[in-house]
Amino acid sequence: ALISLRQLLDHAAENNYGLPAFNVNNMEQVQAIMQAAAQVDSPVILQGSAGARSYAGEPFLRHLIAAAIEMYPHIPVCMHQDHGATPGVCFRSIQSGFSSVMMDGSLLADGKTPSSYEYNVTTTKQVVDLAHACGVSVEGELGCLGSLETGKAGEEDGHGAEGELDHSMLLTDPDEAADFVRKTQVDALAIAIGTSHGAYKFTSKPSGKVLRIDRVKEIHQRIPNVHLVMHGSSSVPEDWLAIINQYGGDMGQTYGVPVEEIVEGIKNGVRKVNIDTDLRMASTGAIRQHLAQDRKNFDPRKFYKEATKAMQAICAARYEAFGSAGMA
Ligand code: G3H
Ligand code: 13P
Ligand code: ZN
Repeated sequence: ALISLRQLLDHAAENNYGLPAFNVNNMEQVQAIMQAAAQVDSPVILQGSAGARSYAGEPFLRHLIAAAIEMYPHIPVCMHQDHGATPGVCFRSIQSGFSSVMMDGSLLADGKTPSSYEYNVTTTKQVVDLAHACGVSVEGELGCLGSLETGKAGEEDGHGAEGELDHSMLLTDPDEAADFVRKTQVDALAIAIGTSHGAYKFTSKPSGKVLRIDRVKEIHQRIPNVHLVMHGSSSVPEDWLAIINQYGGDMGQTYGVPVEEIVEGIKNGVRKVNIDTDLRMASTGAIRQHLAQDRKNFDPRKFYKEATKAMQAICAARYEAFGSAGMA
């Protein structure tokens, strides 16, 4: 059944678990996420980005999610719009039936220039007023995602601010978060604590702690009733990276967010964990491997099936690790 983000995350908070929110662009991703959820009995957040809407087209995206809900009536599904760059984008998604929208007012409408705090409050509040009147939840964002080492937002395929960021933007301020929530009434808040979008998050293997969990704790204490969201939370699986490069790919050496650190975040108030890159890599790796190993095949269903299986395994592992397995 379709459910709002607020309802899903309230349940997660009451039961101390977190939920992965997977980006979806096509049928295989939706099927992988749903098959894994059915396998481990987890609720689901399916999110569509602007990129997904331009890839699949809004009606296809909407009907793919509708198909998931029809096929798995016992699983609660939140249909979430990821990174709305303007209130207009969010209003359109509300109109088309999304049960939750993200107004990302941390950046201007171009999706890459950091905005002023006042701009963020005004645009986010505009969306909350309308969304709540429609029973739709709203996620806001405060702070800019980027590496705490380099001050850069995720590179290449990452979504986010461009160029070097002022260091103070890279960590969400707890007092400002409290003020933001009071003024906007958002249901969920994406925070900056050292993650970044895309595959190129860390250049060396994280040996210690890469995330500022102390900051998560402080923010959670200030706004205990708002669900915290971690974007840029792919773990960049080393095995799939190796397979991609073994079968003709050319991805640079890179590391993601260790699952154990996400679990620490969940213990301290994180309820929604955004993951896109991990499924992209599993899918690309599985397809490259299949095509290299079965060179006579020209039936796409065979490699799509491998991609689905690879993505499903990652989804199931995240549901288990984040504690949402058994909670549907
Ligand atoms: O936040 C960005 C997500 O990874 C979606 O990426 O805009 O390329 O679909 P996309
Ligand atoms: P990753 O690039 O780490 O998968 O993050 C995805 C995300 O935050 C989507 O909003
Ligand atoms: Zn994001």
